[in-house]
Amino acid sequence: MSWNPFHPDIMEDPSSGHEYLLDQCPVHFFSSPEMRFYTLSRYDDVSSCLRDTTRFSSQYGQGPNFSEPAGMLCDPPQHTLYRKLIQPAFSPKAVEELRPKVISLTNELVDKILSGDSTFDLHDEIAFPLPVTIIAGMLGVPSSDLEKFKRWSDIQVEIMGSGDLDKYKEEQIEFQNYMLKHLRGRKLELAKEGREGKQDLLNLIASARNEQDEAIPESDALSMLNQLLVGGNETTTSLITNLFWRLLEKPSRWRTLLEDRSLVRSAVEESLRYDPPVLGLYRNSASDIEIHDETIPEGEKVYVYYAAANRDPRVFNKPNEFDISRKARRHMSFGLGTHFCVGAPTARLEAEVVLEVMLERMPDLRMLNSGERIKPFFLWGRKHLPCAW
Ligand code: HEM
Repeated sequence: MSWNPFHPDIMEDPSSGHEYLLDQCPVHFFSSPEMRFYTLSRYDDVSSCLRDTTRFSSQYGQGPNFSEPAGMLCDPPQHTLYRKLIQPAFSPKAVEELRPKVISLTNELVDKILSGDSTFDLHDEIAFPLPVTIIAGMLGVPSSDLEKFKRWSDIQVEIMGSGDLDKYKEEQIEFQNYMLKHLRGRKLELAKEGREGKQDLLNLIASARNEQDEAIPESDALSMLNQLLVGGNETTTSLITNLFWRLLEKPSRWRTLLEDRSLVRSAVEESLRYDPPVLGLYRNSASDIEIHDETIPEGEKVYVYYAAANRDPRVFNKPNEFDISRKARRHMSFGLGTHFCVGAPTARLEAEVVLEVMLERMPDLRMLNSGERIKPFFLWGRKHLPCAW
């Protein structure tokens, strides 16, 4: 066992372990007193696994701990029903309609920075408030509750990566009660106003009915709200911090973008490939699975390691080089197949708008230091990114 995702060196730089996994250990087994799992890292293995929901099931959760199926955290057919239900809020038209709001919010945040000191934390001032405000808006939650939301979102992530499920019990209950109150409030509004009321994501969930035309269970609705909150929040924050970190650590990259704005889109994609905000997620082996002369026994957790797949030299030329002109759309950072990230276009929109606005309004932007990484071992982003304009 010569790879350990919790080792301080790997925590500091997850990519330092990729070569070993990709070359020598494509099916890796990790075990500690807290958790055990197999890791798949080659691009083709990750791709096959994500396309095969029969053998690699999502039924017992996408984190390292086993959980009960709920909402979209499960396999088809339940997954198909719920995914279809929220899809309208993520259609290309819906995402495009969000653009003016993302632009004006980003400009407001930049106004605030420019009216203050010449130094600021890019995480606190931009990368955190933008996604949380957007997802809260999509869920119809008042912006006065944003800080609470962030705290709850962080807790969901910590729970996913921790062996100690009781640690945040009280806050978890507080969050569930808050969401339940919100959900029930919307159901009442819908009963009064009909479906014509507010057309947001919360409406789609509050008015959801199953194939028998019955209201879906509240536990499934809550699970989806949970997943959207976490999925739409910390991940996009990390995309933005990671993107600026890499662009500013070599000022020549920033200058190249200042001269050629047509590279904005590929710079965002390269950031996603090189520094995936979700390094990997889990599947559950539904039978014994033979792969590369190894057997993953039934009932095990399988870590699908997008970050290593994104550096697989069989697919990406010079994978360890950060190249903003690379055509990198085949990366795995939003997953693949049935559970492919429904919010990918929203995340791309937010990152592209932030980059465009900052290039325009803060051409002399520079990074003071690279801050520190966020805590959970399977997520990758900066907790702080001190900058100056
Ligand atoms: C850079 C930002 C993001 C990253 C890196 C990311 C990553 C991912 C990944 C890897 C998956 C696949 C999960 C699996 O296979 O089990 C996923 C699914 C999902 N993401 Fe995202 N995500 C991001 C942004 C968003 C946003 C903005 C939203 C919502 C507004 C969102 C909502 C979801 C949901 C609901 C799913 C579950 C889809 C399903 O099971 O069918 N994500 N995301």
